[in-house]
Amino acid sequence: MDAPIPLIRRATEVDLGAINGIYNREVREGVATWELDEWPPEQRLAWFRARDDEEPVLVAEADGRVIGFAYLTRYRGRRGYRLTRENTVMVHPDHQRRGLGRLLLSELVECAREMGLHTLLAFIDQENHASIELHRALGYVEVGRERETGHKFAAWRSSVEMQLLLE
Ligand SMILES: CC(C)(COP(=O)(O)OP(=O)(O)OC[C@H]1O[C@@H](n2cnc3c(N)ncnc32)[C@H](O)[C@@H]1OP(=O)(O)O)[C@@H](O)C(=O)NCCC(=O)NCCS
Repeated sequence: MDAPIPLIRRATEVDLGAINGIYNREVREGVATWELDEWPPEQRLAWFRARDDEEPVLVAEADGRVIGFAYLTRYRGRRGYRLTRENTVMVHPDHQRRGLGRLLLSELVECAREMGLHTLLAFIDQENHASIELHRALGYVEVGRERETGHKFAAWRSSVEMQLLLE
């Protein structure tokens, strides 16, 4: 049977359980986040409520279930950085490699353009080849590396910084 066509839409509080489920799995098993402790629901709710229209959260929904999400986060506090955002994208492991990450990130980039932003950044574990290739496929280029700034799963972790200029 064909996979259902996902709908990309803005997240609401109803989606937070699913978002947190995908995220916490990555906390436990992956390197997409260097967070070491799972987020309790209250933390996810506080995170969501602290955001405004300038930090949109998108979800991918199929058959009534949220199977991926993507969001923009302000980059640093100084006003001079106001037209820059950091982006995050995660797809449930059962639904990866079906074009969903590409769809979510493309929609997020479109949001960023509509908001009049100038540039997007992604900080990606250097062993996360799927994410590096996804970002590259959408036009991001590598602009830097940080060596051993993280430590997870009993190993030092390094990151690749990738950037998309929107104009
Ligand atoms: C990274 C991630 C979002 C990609 O989502 P996805 O839905 O699986 O990716 P897509 O099917 O849309 O793939 C789009 C492109 O990304 C690249 N890509 C995706 N998965 C890949 C993999 N495992 N290996 C190499 N390239 C990959 C390919 O260029 C692919 O294009 P193609 O299918 O034409 O080859 C997904 O693997 C994920 O959620 N991983 C865990 C969380 C994570 O790492 N998030 C990123 C944090 S920086």
